[in-house]
Amino acid sequence: MKTLGVGIVGCGVISGVYMQNMPMFAGIELRGCADVRPEAAQAAAAKFGIPAYSVDELLKRDDIDVIVNLTIPATHFAVSHAALTAGKHVFSEKPLCVSVEDGRRLVAEAEARGLSLGCAPDTFLGAGGRLARRMIDEGRIGKVLSGTAILLSHGMEHWHPDPEFFFKPGGGPILDLGPYYIGALVNLLGPIARVQAQTAIGFAERIVTAKGPRTGDAIRVEVPTTVSALLDFQAGAQVTLMMSWDVWKHGHPPIELYGTEGSMRVPDPNFFGGNIEFSERDQDWQIADPSALPFGQPNWRSPNWPATRPAQANYRCLGLAELARAATQGTAHRSSGKLALHVLEAMFAILEAGETRRVVQVGTQIDRPLALPDAEALALLKGA
Ligand SMILES: NC(=O)c1ccc[n+]([C@@H]2O[C@H](COP(=O)([O-])OP(=O)(O)OC[C@H]3O[C@@H](n4cnc5c(N)ncnc54)[C@H](O)[C@@H]3O)[C@@H](O)[C@H]2O)c1
Repeated sequence: MKTLGVGIVGCGVISGVYMQNMPMFAGIELRGCADVRPEAAQAAAAKFGIPAYSVDELLKRDDIDVIVNLTIPATHFAVSHAALTAGKHVFSEKPLCVSVEDGRRLVAEAEARGLSLGCAPDTFLGAGGRLARRMIDEGRIGKVLSGTAILLSHGMEHWHPDPEFFFKPGGGPILDLGPYYIGALVNLLGPIARVQAQTAIGFAERIVTAKGPRTGDAIRVEVPTTVSALLDFQAGAQVTLMMSWDVWKHGHPPIELYGTEGSMRVPDPNFFGGNIEFSERDQDWQIADPSALPFGQPNWRSPNWPATRPAQANYRCLGLAELARAATQGTAHRSSGKLALHVLEAMFAILEAGETRRVVQVGTQIDRPLALPDAEALALLKGA
């Protein structure tokens, strides 16, 4: 398989795991990085033994085929658009960008140029996501009628050294974490037809407590930090979505689905592994453990976690490797720009529904991505 050269734009917090994971994958090779802060690019370059460039230099390089956009959401559009215009495939961190109109422009630009556009999350391609998808497709819980998707925490200012963007337009729990939950649901249930919602700002101001140059800074909150929504899927399921950064403690699993033949607890869509719990009708929960499947083994712990919290499967670059393979073979890939655009439109529909208290239709309709067979997933590993 042809190897595509990868350049990373944005050398902040998340770039480390991308740079660390990249050598594990077939068909991609990290060949350079860039950042508006040259010192950030130089530090990452020195750590991973690659050259640092300016963004313009990186986009002009012939040995770079794919740009991985790890900048903050507000600059996703500009960086991805510039990369596509320079003739590069793009894989972006989530969200695709911060307006539906710009999202459409990115998808159209990639299509017009015959380039691949991908976007996180790719977690649904991990072992937990694949097993959950297989069990849904096999009808293990029958037709899904309803469910819950719940992400509740107390914000980002206690761990991220520069958490400003989380509380400004383009941030908030919906745009920041919604892609994982809504993306996982769309992969399992198909597209969303319409949404209803209520939104609120729980705390008008956040004080940065994470260690770093911004410790003690006050951030004015400009986006809803508590969102309760009802997602109406085209296939008929209705899912209650709750996302909040105003909650200290809770006891809800991330995603539960209720089908005509049983119930299922889908693993945390922030990660690539995790057990699936399922029931036959009202019988006891049973466990399906995907850790022996490709990309299921826990391999990562956040430096911010207490020592008691177990490691998780974190195989960021999986969607990038899948995009690279599809791009070299001229086929479709799964964590695509089109999927991300549908999720983006659903997220903005939720925010609009919260403001207007009206039902909002989601216009973009897509097919579910094809399920990723375990053997195909395994083939994305170098040397497999
Ligand atoms: N931090 C996480 O744990 C995490 C997890 C999953 C996804 N993400 C996503 O990854 C992206 C980056 O998050 P982060 O936490 O690494 O942010 P960050 O602020 O730590 O890093 C962003 C980097 O992008 C650079 N940058 C900003 N604008 C730029 C531009 N126009 N051109 C070049 N460089 C530019 C900044 O200088 C900074 O170094 C976001 O979209 C976020 O949603 C983050």
